[in-house]
Parts: sequence; structure tokens; C-alpha cells
Amino acid sequence: YVIGIDLGTSAVKALLLDRHGKIVSEASRSYPLYHEHSGWSEQRPEDWVQGTLEALNELTGKADVPIHSIEGISFSGQMHGLVLLDSEGNPLRNAILWNDTRTTEECREIELALGDRLLDITRNPALEGFTLPKILWVRKHEPDIFAQAARFLLPKDYVRYRLTGALHMDYSDAAGTLLLDVANQEWSAEVLAAMELSMSFCPSLIESHGLVGTLLPEPAARAGLSPATRVFAGGADNACGAIGAGILQEGLTMCSIGTSGVILAYEQDSGSDYGGRVHFFNHGKSDAFYAMGVTLAAGYSLSWFKNTFAKQESFAELLAGVEEIAPGSRGLLFTPYIVGERTPHADSVIRGSFIGIDGSHERVHFARAVMEGITFSLNESVDLFRRAGKEIDTIISIGGGAQNPVWLQMQADIFNADVVALENEQGPGLGAAMLAAFGCGWYASLKDCADSFVKRASVFKPQPAAVGVYAELFRTYQQVYRQTRELN
Ligand code: XUL
Repeated sequence: YVIGIDLGTSAVKALLLDRHGKIVSEASRSYPLYHEHSGWSEQRPEDWVQGTLEALNELTGKADVPIHSIEGISFSGQMHGLVLLDSEGNPLRNAILWNDTRTTEECREIELALGDRLLDITRNPALEGFTLPKILWVRKHEPDIFAQAARFLLPKDYVRYRLTGALHMDYSDAAGTLLLDVANQEWSAEVLAAMELSMSFCPSLIESHGLVGTLLPEPAARAGLSPATRVFAGGADNACGAIGAGILQEGLTMCSIGTSGVILAYEQDSGSDYGGRVHFFNHGKSDAFYAMGVTLAAGYSLSWFKNTFAKQESFAELLAGVEEIAPGSRGLLFTPYIVGERTPHADSVIRGSFIGIDGSHERVHFARAVMEGITFSLNESVDLFRRAGKEIDTIISIGGGAQNPVWLQMQADIFNADVVALENEQGPGLGAAMLAAFGCGWYASLKDCADSFVKRASVFKPQPAAVGVYAELFRTYQQVYRQTRELN
């Protein structure tokens, strides 16, 4: 058996898989987000550790498998979050998360200090969500804390450190810090020097399937695992989502709708040039990469809508009836910029809108419009890839957005591509488990592992009439940003 741990933004989820990729047991624990000021988003690293240990304890407790038969563990983690450690390895403050937008000024400073070199080396522009601007923010605003900072980690690296005592970061997550030379897979001495940071501040780098060690006795006992269980580094949630969806060769594209949403395309080498308009990161597969556009509030927009207008109801109740509403939600259009937007606008200030509200609209029209708006935002990324010459005719859909057949059909119609749903889709947690399975030597390659673990369930074909309606609406959607930007 192997375990995949997905350390997400709202919860940690642990999966126990057998040798055939079948899920034997699963458990999760949620933890709070702290928004002390508008645009701030933090979590307590200790909550992640305790949540992970509790989820593992429940997972192993109900699985009824001999503990020595659990051979390996690996991780998927929310990207970019800054965990600052003192010289003893203790967190100095709450983690500042990927969806925190307090660092606009620091982004300017980075762009100013590095100019074109930033994109040449890190393959990405400076965005508020990335880690380096967060480091600079703490240095400027909390100098006393920064003075004690010996090293930084990303969220899942911190949890893994607490479980094993070993400090590491894998390439796929390191790529989201803005400190990595992405093509050469090493910390960039040039970026570090320009930002007056020391190399010793960065943890040692490792491949996603790389072995970091075994479990410390105390966390092993709490998790119900053997201290001999091997622990593999793991990867960024988007890289692990891609592995779990079998995005392991050129030509494959994924749509993931979780709290955030992404459109991700596999890249075999580091040569593609999107001019920084999409992210370009190292994959969790060795020497491979991916390009990715991000919608900041994807599932988050729908949860916000539910929590605000239908708190007592389930998602199923909220979405009952959306399939009866024709594409276009009878003229109601939603832009999901409720925490700003990444791709294509890289604008942390813009906010969302409902446009075209009519006296005949009922709540169900609003619910459908939210789903459509999220999908339009993702289509901006699909559109960007296509304009750069990528052929996208099939998209593997994962995450919460892939649980609902109406949303899958909507994706096919808005993306104008075949949309594939997977059997028993488990998102990044499956990718993490696959890294452990590959690390344990069960398969010769991640691709072989995917051939056995990842199964396609159904294909949603674009329906020409809906494609036409949505193509026209998409042009209106694109105008909303241009025309409302000034009002924010
Ligand atoms: C990617 C990003 C998000 C987080 C979500 O750049 O910020 O997708 O990884 O956990």
C-alpha cells in the first residue's frame, strides 16, 4: 500500500491505495483560514500538522491493513505559501498563503531589481501569490521576525519536515517561489543576490519522487504507521493533479476546479515562450515542465455564493435545476474576480460582478451564472494557449468541477473541446500516492503507474448550439474586465 496526502487550502485529505491504485481508505480534516485584513490569507502551520496526523490516524484505523504493508507516503501541497522557520526549525509566524494579495509593492520591487532577467530565470512574472514577494513583505513589515528567520519552506514541506525531521523542497513547488532557475533546476544565485537573500535561506532541492527518509517515531505512532514507512518528497498540488490525471506527455491538457482553478498543459522541455502570460513550472515528473493559467476564485466563487445565499443547503441542493437553465443563464453574467484575478489579467485589485440582472432571474440563474463565469475565466487560459499555437482538443477535468455532469458539459461547450472525466477521480492526492508508488519502485516510470492507476470514465462532447452561444458570451465576458477595471 501507499499513502497520498493532499494538503489543500481548506482541508488535508489522505488516501490509502493498494498496488492496483484502488482506494482502500480515505480521511480528511479541515482547518481555518485567517483573513485579518482585506486581501490577507493565512493559516497556522501547526493546524496542518495536527490535521494531517489526525487524518492519517483515522485512515490507518479504519483500513484494517497490516502497518508494515504500507510502504510509502508522499505529498501534494497548496503552492507558494510562506513558512518562515527560526534556526531551531520552529515557525516564526502564520503561513502567508498563495491567495494572499498584500504584496503588490514587493512585486514592483522585484520587477524593478531584475527586469527581464526575472522572466529569463524564473520563467514567471512577479505575482502577489508567489513566495518571494511574501518574504520581502515580512522583511519590510516585520523586521524583528525576519531577523530570526533561518530558512523558509512551503506548506507541504513543513508538514513533511515535522513527520521526518528532514528539510527539503521539491522542484515543482520550488518553481512557484520565484527563486528557482526553472530550466536549470537550481536556486538562482542571481535572483537571491539581487534581492539580498542568502543561499542558506533556501532548503535543499529534491525530485518529487525522491526519498527524504522515514517517519520519526512520535508522528509514526500518532498516525498509526510504522517508523520504517518511506517518505517521498511529493509535489505542488497542480503538478500532482496533473500526475493523477495522467498528464505525463506532450499534447495533454488538464482543467482542475478546486478552490482555485487551473488550465495546465504538459511541456516536455523548457523552450516554450508564453511571455510570462501563463505560469511555467517544473513538473513532478523529472526533467519535464508545465504551463498553466490560474483562476484565483474558481470553486471558491461557488462556495462564496453558497455560504452567502444558501448557507443551510448542500451543493447538490444549490445546484438542483441548473441543468434546466439554457446556456447563458438568461442574460446573467458573472465575473469570478472576488479575490482579484491571475490569468490573464494579473490584477489583484479587480473585483467580481453580476451583470444583466433581470426581474425574472431566480437564484438558480445566479448559480448557473457563477458556474459559467468560472468556466469563462478558465477559457481565457485555453484561449491563450490556443493563440500561442497549442492544439487543445481534449481536456481531462478534475477537482470539484468534475463531480457535476452539468459542469462537465458546460466545460466541453465553453472550451469547445472534448472533456474527459476520470473514474473515481481523486485529484492531487492520487498524484501524491503515485509518486510514492513510483518512489517505492512499483513501476518503471510515472507513465506506467498512470496507465495502471488512472482510468477514463466518460467523455463530454461539445454541443454545437451551446458552443455558438458561449463563444458569443465569452466575447462579452472579456469586455467586462476592460470596461469595469476603471470602476474598481
Ligand atoms: C497556483 C496556485 C494555486 C494553488 C492552490 O499557482 O496559486 O493553484 O496551488 O493550492
